[in-house]
Formats: sequence, structure tokens, C-alpha cells
Amino acid sequence: MRVAVIGAGVVGLSTAQCIYEQYGSAVGDLTIQVYADRFTPLTTSDGAAGFWQPYLDDKGHTEETKWNKETFDYLLSFLSSPEAVKMGIFLQSGYNLCTEHRPEPSFKDIVLGFRDLTQRELDMFPGYNHGWFNTALMVEGKTYLPWLMDWLQKRGVQFYQRKIESFKELADTGVDVIINCSGVRSGDLQPDPHLTPGRGQIIKVDAPWLKHWVLTHKSSIYNSPYIIPGSRLVTVGGVFQLGNWSEASNSIDHKKIWEEACELEPSLKHARIVEDWAGLRPVRTSVRLERERISCGQKDMEVIHNYGHGGFGLTIHRGCAREAARLFGEIIEQHNAKAPKARL
Ligand SMILES: Cc1cc2nc3c(=O)[nH]c(=O)nc-3n(C[C@H](O)[C@H](O)[C@H](O)COP(=O)(O)OP(=O)(O)OC[C@H]3O[C@@H](n4cnc5c(N)ncnc54)[C@H](O)[C@@H]3O)c2cc1C
Ligand SMILES: *[C@@H]1O[C@H](CO)[C@@H](O)[C@H](O)[C@H]1NC(C)=O
Ligand SMILES: *[C@@H]1O[C@H](CO)[C@@H](O)[C@H](O)[C@H]1NC(C)=O
Repeated sequence: MRVAVIGAGVVGLSTAQCIYEQYGSAVGDLTIQVYADRFTPLTTSDGAAGFWQPYLDDKGHTEETKWNKETFDYLLSFLSSPEAVKMGIFLQSGYNLCTEHRPEPSFKDIVLGFRDLTQRELDMFPGYNHGWFNTALMVEGKTYLPWLMDWLQKRGVQFYQRKIESFKELADTGVDVIINCSGVRSGDLQPDPHLTPGRGQIIKVDAPWLKHWVLTHKSSIYNSPYIIPGSRLVTVGGVFQLGNWSEASNSIDHKKIWEEACELEPSLKHARIVEDWAGLRPVRTSVRLERERISCGQKDMEVIHNYGHGGFGLTIHRGCAREAARLFGEIIEQHNAKAPKARL
């Protein structure tokens, strides 16, 4: 049985990991291959701040809220182990600031110590009159992805650096199941009108005195200032430009981000700017996580889609990876029931 995962961002690698964990020994001769044209440190997942937080409004997508929770609980479970530092995971507290009253977010019972801000706390942030404090997690892609790659490599998962132009191309090499974790460019392989790039740009700065994250919710998500300290650098953002495919940083966006962030946190004026980075969030009305049968010439291929994780891919990855592995298990069962002796 050969499984090909397309994509080596956080979604592809964690999906390969869950499939190995659940079926690595149960399915005889299971070969897992990961195909990607970009590997760490060049994926979107590497550039992201790595902050665990879904959008304030889950728009009734209760499955996504469940996958977010599974991811939080999974990451939290590593914090009592020395492995956490190799994975790029640590706890961090901070503020969500609003300019108007908002209903409590669906993640309030997932994070630790969620509560309303006090008046004294709000006084520190002029212009904001409502918000919450809680402890959340960081899972930094630049550390987590190499950890995942290493984990997979040690278990014999194979990596191929190349662009996949069509599903047929993989079917022709004898692959049985394709897992599609190609992020924002999934549309190249099969058009998806619901998938759009949500361009983001951030500034990484050296400001080791900042210990709390601060997210503001003035306009649309991640279009208003945010400050997220990481293990080495602080991420300052941001913009959210729907439909723009440019991965180049832009000086106009830089200026907007910097001025707004310095207004929120004046001490940033003394921070050393290290780099600008721009990336594309795979924005979709909801995550696409489902099976599809695609006919490739003579052969019918089983495809599992796992893409469209917007600005919260690190936040939701593990829950989605487990669900993708469950769908993979369904395929195995159905094929075994049909032809117990034959290969899939
Ligand atoms: C500025 C910014 C900040 C962010 N901050 C956060 C944050 O703090 N927390 C959070 O949870 N999320 C954050 N995100 C969102 C997060 O980065 C994404 O949701 C996540 O990286 C998506 O992961 P992915 O694995 O689907 O995609 P990617 O990381 O983009 O990986 C896609 C993979 O697919 C491969 N691929 C695509 N097409 C093909 C093809 N045809 N052939 C071969 N390979 C292919 C690519 O090479 C790559 O390996 C942020 C995003 C941006 C832009
Ligand atoms: C993979 O997903 C992308 C969306 O990310 C989609 O456009 C593409 O058609 C899918 N590929 C396959 C082989 O289904
Ligand atoms: C997309 O973003 C780039 C980089 O910031 C910018 O130069 C370009 O004008 C934008 N394009 C559109 C259509 O907004």
C-alpha cells in the first residue's frame, strides 16, 4: 500500500505522522511518501508566528472548533516533557483587545485561564474598551516542521522535492491513496472556487523585553495590529489582503504595520527590525477535509483533501491530521471488505 501526501507544510507533515501512528504497523507494507516543491524553512507554516488561536467567531463550524481543541490538548500534553523545546512549543499569555463589545469566542474553554479584562488592564491600551486575557500556546513552524520531518524520516517516510502537476502523475507511479495537503495552491491541481489567498505581511523584530502577545480586533481578522513574542524574535503584524497572490514584502504595508504597532506598544521604537516576511493564508469558507474518488485514466484514485486552514493552520493542524487519518482507515476497511486478499 502506497500513500502519497502532497505538501510538506504543517498540515502535510502532521497528516503523514497521524497515518503512521495509526496504521504504520497495522497495515503491512505501508509506504508513506511526501511530495512537495517547498520544504522547511520555505513553507507558509515556517513563516507564520505560530500562535495558537482560532478566529474569534467560529461561524458555527463546530467541527473546526473540535479540531482546534484536539490540537491544543495534544500540544499541551507535551509540555511536561523535555521534547517540547525541540518541538517549538511553549505557553504564553496575552491580551485580545476589542473596540466594541463582542461575544465570547468559542476557544474560551480551550485555552487556560480565560477571563474578561479589568478596567486597569484596559487603561493600558487607550482606544480599546473590551477584551480578554488568557494563556495560550506557541507552536513555531521553524522548529516544529524540522521536528516533524525528523520524526518521519526516522520511521522510513520518504520525501521527494518536486512540483506535482496532476493527480494522474502520481497515480501512474503506482500510488494507491493521495492525501492533498497543498495549502493555498491546491487550486493548481483541481480548481476550487472557494479557496483564496489571504496575503499577510509581518515584521520580525528583536525586542526581548516583550513577554505577552497583544491582538487587536478593530477591522477584519489580522488586518489590525498584533504583537506576538516568539522564542527568539517578536512577530509584528499585520495585513490580510484577500485575493492577492504576491509573496513579496511591500514598503507601504511595512509602514502601516509599523506605525500602528508602535502606537499600540510604544517601546517597539527601540526594537531592532530583523526581517520582513509575506505569505499566503489558504483562506476558504471552511476547511476542506473529505474523501473524493477521482478517475485517472484506467484507475480510480482515492484522494483525501486536507486544505484551506486560513490564518489558523498551526492552531488546527493536529485535529485535522487525525481526521484525515481516520478517513484513510475507512478506505482501508472498505477495500479489505471488498477484496480481502488483493492489494488496494
Ligand atoms: C503572515 C501569516 C501569519 C500566520 N500566523 C499564524 C499563526 O500565528 N498561527 C496559526 O495557526 N496560523 C498562522 N498562519 C496561517 C498558517 O501559516 C497556515 O494556515 C498554514 O501554514 C497552512 O499550512 P499548510 O500545510 O496547509 O500550507 P503550507 O505551509 O503553505 O504548505 C503547503 C505545502 O504544499 C506544497 N505544494 C503546494 N502545491 C504543490 C504542488 N502542486 N506540488 C508539490 N507541492 C505542492 C508546498 O510546497 C508546501 O510544502 C499565518 C499565515 C500568515 C501568512
Ligand atoms: C488538492 O487540493 C487543492 C486545493 O488545495 C485542489 O485545488 C486540488 O485539486 C487538489 N488536488 C487533488 C489531486 O485533488
Ligand atoms: C498585491 O501585493 C503586492 C505586494 O504588496 C502589491 O505590490 C500589489 O499591488 C498587490 N496587488 C493587488 C492587486 O492588490
